[in-house]
Amino acid sequence: MMDAVTAGLVARGVPRFDIFSEVFRSPTTPPSDGDQRFTVSFARSGRAPATWTPRQGTLLTFGESLGVQMASGCRVGQCESCAVRLLSGKVRHLHGSEPEDPAVCLACQAIPLEDVVLEA
Ligand code: FES
Repeated sequence: MMDAVTAGLVARGVPRFDIFSEVFRSPTTPPSDGDQRFTVSFARSGRAPATWTPRQGTLLTFGESLGVQMASGCRVGQCESCAVRLLSGKVRHLHGSEPEDPAVCLACQAIPLEDVVLEA
């Protein structure tokens, strides 16, 4: 319903920036299936690239476990305080919606789909 209302407002000329919504949901957990392994680099941290598997959780959880300083707030994909620039690679957001800017990911919801480099 929210997607339909948002699309209707945009179609009527309301700027996306002026449209706010709020969704309440449980914290998401990454799928624990498969043998996925991707290299994640935190470019600003100066840290060596590390191997991510689904057991490491979201990119925020993974970065924090490595000692990378990353901003966060709600941790459920609402506040966008964990937004970080995606310098390369693709991610998926566990809460089901993708940021408008494909070059940005919400680290508290994002898991890699391939090797990624984050500006963190
Ligand atoms: S911490 Fe709030 S959206 Fe990620």
